[in-house]
Amino acid sequence: MGTTRRVLVDGVSFSIDPGERVALVGESGSGKSLTVLAALGLTPEPVRFAGGNIRVDGTDLRDLEPAAVHRLRGGRLAMVFQEPSSALNPVLSIGYQIRETIQAHRSMKRAAARREALRLLDEVDLQPSDEMARAYPHQLSGGQAQRAALAVALAGAPSLLIADEPTTGLDTTAQHGLLNLLLRLSRERFTALLLVTHDLAVAAVTARRCWIMYSGELVETGPMDMILADPSHPYTRLLLRATADNGPAPGAEEAPKADPADEPPGCSFAPRCPLREAPCLTAHPPLLPLGPRRSLRCPIVARRRSP
Ligand SMILES: Nc1ncnc2c1ncn2[C@@H]1O[C@H](COP(=O)(O)OP(=O)(O)OP(=O)(O)O)[C@@H](O)[C@H]1O
Ligand SMILES: [Mg+2]
Repeated sequence: MGTTRRVLVDGVSFSIDPGERVALVGESGSGKSLTVLAALGLTPEPVRFAGGNIRVDGTDLRDLEPAAVHRLRGGRLAMVFQEPSSALNPVLSIGYQIRETIQAHRSMKRAAARREALRLLDEVDLQPSDEMARAYPHQLSGGQAQRAALAVALAGAPSLLIADEPTTGLDTTAQHGLLNLLLRLSRERFTALLLVTHDLAVAAVTARRCWIMYSGELVETGPMDMILADPSHPYTRLLLRATADNGPAPGAEEAPKADPADEPPGCSFAPRCPLREAPCLTAHPPLLPLGPRRSLRCPIVARRRSP
């Protein structure tokens, strides 16, 4: 059987400080989920982590024993997955799943864990009752299930919470509620938050820093307010315009979807880019600093901006 190697996510490098809120933004298939799953050492088969470092407080995740990685995940590093149904175990009650995480990651006796589980239900704005604790995931609405998944994630007292499209499938009111909840929790607990979303508007209200991803690569990074006020990469500008128009990025319908596996020789965004010049089709641009706090993967814009 032949094996094929396709690079799906490449050269993505970032760090998050304690208590910081960052958004990873990009369209469907750009590699956001793979990036955060790789950061937790959870790449799904047959995807492989081909190289790089994942450091938590200076320790490389890849140097740790599997048991230590396991303690870290669900403990200091927690994730709310794109589908709450896949994060929650369908045959265990919500209360059991929260208590299980508390007891696995914090030294707490049964009775204390039970009380803490009710407190966590309250913290995520679910009814802190025995009835709610005894509920199974299928008995909850989508919004409630996502809150329950959040309570399980918080049960390990994480210092970094990764939320991958946490509002997907929720109605507008539930979306607002969940984003406000994430913000409040991050502020009150001083938990760093990495929010993964295709929606720049969602990112804008949640994060202070922003990483824009296109076709498996970061194309622009910087403080959120600077990116919103002065987007640099042509893809960021498209995203921002789409956000203002409340629709898909212009050109998205007719343009081929960016697939990192296609690996075009030049800039991945070139086929859709209004600023495209001949070299963009042949030379792959690097991500370079743009001033002290930003970075940009577009030599055309960088050249226009340099004094
Ligand atoms: N298990 C897998 N096996 C093979 N290819 C995969 C697998 N998971 C993802 N990919 C590919 O990796 C690329 C990035 O996928 P990823 O799920 O990270 O995108 P995403 O940005 O999270 O998209 P979405 O917004 O739809 O969740 C896509 O081209 C996808 O087809
Ligand atoms: Mg995804």
